[in-house]
Amino acid sequence: MADGTAKIEIGGTSHDYAIKDGSVGPQVVDIRKLYADTGLFTYDPGFTSTASCESGLTYIDGDQGILLHRGYPIDQLAEQSSFMEVAYLLLRGELPSKGELDEFTYTITRHTMVHEQLTAFFRGFRRDAHPMAIMCGVVGALSAFYHDSTDINDPVQRRIASHRLIAKMPTIAAMAYKYSVGQPFVYPRNDLSYTANFLNMTFSVPAEEYHLDPVIVDAMDKIFILHADHEQNASTSTVRLAGSSGANPFACIAAGIACLWGPAHGGANEAALNMLREIGTPDRIPEYIARAKNKDDPFRLMGFGHRVYKNFDPRAKVLSKAATDVLDKLGINDPVLDTARELEQIALKDPYFVEKKLYPNVDFYSGVILSAIGFPTEMFTVLFALARTVGWVAQWNEMISDPAQKIGRPRQLYTGPTMRDYVPVEKR
Ligand code: SDX
Repeated sequence: MADGTAKIEIGGTSHDYAIKDGSVGPQVVDIRKLYADTGLFTYDPGFTSTASCESGLTYIDGDQGILLHRGYPIDQLAEQSSFMEVAYLLLRGELPSKGELDEFTYTITRHTMVHEQLTAFFRGFRRDAHPMAIMCGVVGALSAFYHDSTDINDPVQRRIASHRLIAKMPTIAAMAYKYSVGQPFVYPRNDLSYTANFLNMTFSVPAEEYHLDPVIVDAMDKIFILHADHEQNASTSTVRLAGSSGANPFACIAAGIACLWGPAHGGANEAALNMLREIGTPDRIPEYIARAKNKDDPFRLMGFGHRVYKNFDPRAKVLSKAATDVLDKLGINDPVLDTARELEQIALKDPYFVEKKLYPNVDFYSGVILSAIGFPTEMFTVLFALARTVGWVAQWNEMISDPAQKIGRPRQLYTGPTMRDYVPVEKR
């Protein structure tokens, strides 16, 4: 296909389709006219070979284990940047000057409060409600409060809605946690950084001064950076599809939260730590490896495998190192980390995992750190959603600005009954 054209021959007729180059990574065959030309659809359940859009936000090389945000490697961003700076980078396309970052941070900080009536939504939930259920409900409800920023055709309103979502997710996430433990909500503080403010709203109590441990603030900020965006994953594709109908940004992000909750996606961090705790000691690892390989057993090694990475998830590499650093600095000896390391070593030598190229992903080590910081496992996916809101919002804005954008409407291979006449019940 050196000439930039793909030829598809159907029924003796040849059809040419342009091959488009990206700046890096796989080319695409532009098949938008295939159905009009041939009357045939493509068939790609799970979209394993389908590019749904053009994007300049995030590039993943699954074979090399490379992840870039606007061209910058994730390990460099995790080690040298901040979540607010990465948010600016994803939204605006370039690393900010100090003045630009200060202005962006000032703006986000002053949108962290939520409408006081939003607190009423929490009281409708049982105290033992899963915090992701609360996030789905409360974030979707935001569209009832911010009508002045729901016109997606107005760039000013899109920017305000984007800032509101990024700013209010930590407040709502902290409120979901506080509600689950029966403690009073803690208001945002404008004198704290984005991540320190979240930790204060989550863990401080009115009865005493809360000490912000810089080790924990740094680890939390790094975790947010590592979860910010990840190309066209399931929840991001959900946000884009919801947005393609013109739905308001608050509803689109609520849809993304719902999709992320699944254990095959963002719910895997909670499932992975629960799995590691269930395994308990390294001597029980072989039993679980055997279950993961057993076709008749639905069990999968949570935190392992990835649709795109067929090498190490670069985020898992950063988190693996951070897990040791954070637990050492906090003086925590969690046997789950030893089990995780032993499990990784055994799995990566096992032919099943080697042949299927199953490596630890972002969810394998994150739970060990989040647990050390003090979060219950039910909050892990909420933290993923908090961070991924930056990516969802950036992808949503990119979609709306894309001239090729139209409502997403996939077709199907129909395998149901062909036309038949209705039969009255007395004749069935
Ligand atoms: C995230 O897309 C993204 O970018 C997502 C994400 C992001 O940042 O947005 O990176 C976040 O979702 C990470 C993934 C978290 N999920 C888990 O850790 C759950 C465990 N992993 C699997 O469910 C699975 O690996 C997926 C869902 C992640 C990927 O599944 P695919 O690409 O559809 O691959 P597959 O299910 O077809 O698996 C290929 C083979 C299968 O065996 P065969 O049918 O070919 O014989 O590998 C096997 C699977 O059974 N396999 C596993 C396995 N993962 C895949 N076997 C055991 N344990 C596993 N974890």
